[in-house]
Amino acid sequence: MMDATIATVRGRRVWDSRGRPTVETDIVLKSGLSGRAIAPAGASTGTGEAVDKRDGGTAFGGLDVTGAVAAVNGEIAEALIGRDARDQDGIDKALIALDGTGNLARLGGNAVVATSMAVLHAAAAASGQPLWRHLSQGRKVRIPLPEIQIFGGGAHAARRVDVQDFMVMCPAASSFAEALDWTAEVYRAAGALMKQAGKLQGVADEGGFWPAFASNEEALDALVRAIESAGFKPGVEVAISLDIAASEFGRGGVYKLALDERELDSAGMIALLSRWLEAYPIISIEDPLAEDDAEGFKAFTAAHGERCQIIGDDYLVTNAGRVEQAARDKALNAVLIKPNQSGTVTGTSAALEAGKAAGFGTIVSARSGETEDVTIAHLAVGWDSGQFKVGSFSRSERMAKWNEILRIEEELAGEAGFAGWSALPPGARRW
Ligand code: PGA
Ligand code: ZN
Repeated sequence: MMDATIATVRGRRVWDSRGRPTVETDIVLKSGLSGRAIAPAGASTGTGEAVDKRDGGTAFGGLDVTGAVAAVNGEIAEALIGRDARDQDGIDKALIALDGTGNLARLGGNAVVATSMAVLHAAAAASGQPLWRHLSQGRKVRIPLPEIQIFGGGAHAARRVDVQDFMVMCPAASSFAEALDWTAEVYRAAGALMKQAGKLQGVADEGGFWPAFASNEEALDALVRAIESAGFKPGVEVAISLDIAASEFGRGGVYKLALDERELDSAGMIALLSRWLEAYPIISIEDPLAEDDAEGFKAFTAAHGERCQIIGDDYLVTNAGRVEQAARDKALNAVLIKPNQSGTVTGTSAALEAGKAAGFGTIVSARSGETEDVTIAHLAVGWDSGQFKVGSFSRSERMAKWNEILRIEEELAGEAGFAGWSALPPGARRW
């Protein structure tokens, strides 16, 4: 085992997939081995998330991160130099204490998450193992079931349609590689259909086709047609997964569906989604209600929790305490896991473990603002999350993650199986 003492910590400003500044941290150990990670950034963020530090002012729309980078190179470096990179828990606790705000607003969630993940990479380097193997520590892991966007809407497409992600899942595929093959065919078919209809207008923030639709239902119809025209049985081989991201248009029990020109209360929203669940082969639905609508979540899960995966993103913000509360409340049955919502590797892992302890589906997820950083691919495999969400099937900040799992699957040949249906609640298999 190499000496894993941290010798230097360096932060720098790099750029994300939306052309916005973000934070990269390099950790170099005394041994000369190193780790690097880049903070992602969300657009439809939950209010309970760790808060990024942005400069404000006029440069880059106020989104510059020179303050966050200075925090890495100053206070954070000072606190970490001389510490053992393998002590992730101790380092993350020290970062949280140093920040002192409870939501990382002072040092910046972006500064802290980039640093925490860079420490993890450095520890893996010191152990001489790829990150996923360093994390699995000899436990049996699965290759995750991917959830891949075909149409991008909501905050990622100027609210062209209300629903944020129209995705597919291929639980019947025999491997991750085959799930990508099938998704690639559906993505191509969807593009061809859009072109035919004169609606091909490029892609949204996560690489899904721009949703030039007259209603949310029209997008759902188009997705079913794309699955069929690619030669797959909807719901049996290739199923639909939605991220409603309802906090973006719902508050205080009022949901404003701009596209459909409808205003619904919580019960109306549940009724609308219930009709979609009847009419379309949907096996997973994320944030069906707004983050402030706990009663809505409970009612929705009471009605559909036996036959559909119901994921909390904004509602749970990768927080172990919230996951435990949601399990007690029976408010949902799955949790989205985003490292930068928590701000540290330790907090992220705790939220995922709380999800597993509750019997929830667990989905490691990217943000809409991403980079070439592939840390989350290793977290999904090494922590055996069972599911993985990265956005669509175009643009290299997305493809880098899919491609990394392909390499891991190849390396694990025979050792680990593809999660497939096992990653989902049993009731999701009803079509
Ligand atoms: P965000 O969206 O990264 O813009 O928050 C992703 C999601 O809602 O899952
Ligand atoms: Zn979401």
